[in-house]
Amino acid sequence: MKMISVAFVCLGNICRSPMAELIFKKLVEERGLSSSFNISSFGTSDCEEGNSVYPPAKRALDRHNIPGEHIAKQISKRDILNNDYILVMDTNNLFDVLSIAGNSCSEKIFKLRAFTGDNSDIADPWYTLNFEKSYKEIEEGCIKFLEYLLKEKKEAFAYDKRH
Ligand code: 4NP
Repeated sequence: MKMISVAFVCLGNICRSPMAELIFKKLVEERGLSSSFNISSFGTSDCEEGNSVYPPAKRALDRHNIPGEHIAKQISKRDILNNDYILVMDTNNLFDVLSIAGNSCSEKIFKLRAFTGDNSDIADPWYTLNFEKSYKEIEEGCIKFLEYLLKEKKEAFAYDKRH
């Protein structure tokens, strides 16, 4: 069974996209679907490469009992080619990913909030300082994206034996 590869992308890969990666990993784990997924996150920039999750973002994850860590990494064209879904946080990320992809792969690049029926940006908490608001928006996007996959791509799932 082919795994579904999902990469979350923001600018620095220390706030929004690692939050999305770790939230989505927990959601699929809770549903017994971990073996169906390859889940990662990247930045469009290399400005934070090698750094851990930004402490206020990590604290938001801790408050919501989301485990895990992440080390920041810039996305490459190969990463874009290798993933089935590239889920970005805002319109700048969308244009930056398209530029790295050489304007290919547009069919697999979505803003995370598109799955909530609202294609707006997830504000960057690096600037807003509102990590809880970003957390909630990311969580909602992740839940709706998983609902979309379960409805539209049902055949792709290998349920774990315990479910
Ligand atoms: P993120 O937030 O894209 O959600 O990880 C940012 C992190 C770092 C910077 C900008 C945004 N920065 O300019 O270093």
